[in-house]
Amino acid sequence: MNSSKQHMRLDRFLSQATGLSRKQAGIEIRRRQVRVGDELVRDPARHVAVDAAVYWRDAPVSLPGGVYLMMHKPAGLVCARRDPLHSTVLDLLPPELAAQVHIVGRLDRETTGLLLLTDDGDWSHRLTSPRHGCAKTYLADLAGPLVPDAERRFEQGLMLRSETRPTRPAQLQRLTDCRVRVTVHEGRYHQVRRMFAALDNRVLSLHRESVGDVVLDAELPPGGWRLLRDTELASLRG
Ligand code: URA
Repeated sequence: MNSSKQHMRLDRFLSQATGLSRKQAGIEIRRRQVRVGDELVRDPARHVAVDAAVYWRDAPVSLPGGVYLMMHKPAGLVCARRDPLHSTVLDLLPPELAAQVHIVGRLDRETTGLLLLTDDGDWSHRLTSPRHGCAKTYLADLAGPLVPDAERRFEQGLMLRSETRPTRPAQLQRLTDCRVRVTVHEGRYHQVRRMFAALDNRVLSLHRESVGDVVLDAELPPGGWRLLRDTELASLRG
């Protein structure tokens, strides 16, 4: 996306703003019941800015609030509002959007993959709270072959250095000798790297594939981002 403002289809806007179904919203638009500013718009597919002045039957309607984005985080950028040394993931967004959103659960500078951003503090709090136990799945390349009982030890919980509680059960899938897929349900500092360190191994590269049921969009190149779709948002609200 390259415009500085988020846009969406008018029927989607009307549906989200009023609770009408997408189909009903389309009918209302075609029946000339919807204005954008002074213009009567009859095309449900017309793209409008998320903060457009939209009127339905002459009453102003607006989105319930909340900007929800997914980003394909590239390596080398930090997850922070600002950093004295490095570029941050927020530098990838248009400035006015960057000022509006915050990062939901950080990834290390060298970690790539799915990052969520929002302006909805309650939502990000729920997603990152340990009570919620939201699953996060990573692909990891390891420096050496895995110990034979790694799956069991991930499932049982590992004691990480300088911590007092073991990790929650996590799932490990061997893809090759040195490549694994791992799913964790909490978000401790450098958690995945430290879990493999506890098995005397080392993570060479780490890539987040999904958070809950939301999977990184294969169409997004590193550094790319887009709005979450309604179905994705609904799955994370579930
Ligand atoms: N675990 C890590 O060790 N690093 C990340 O970036 C994410 C999870």
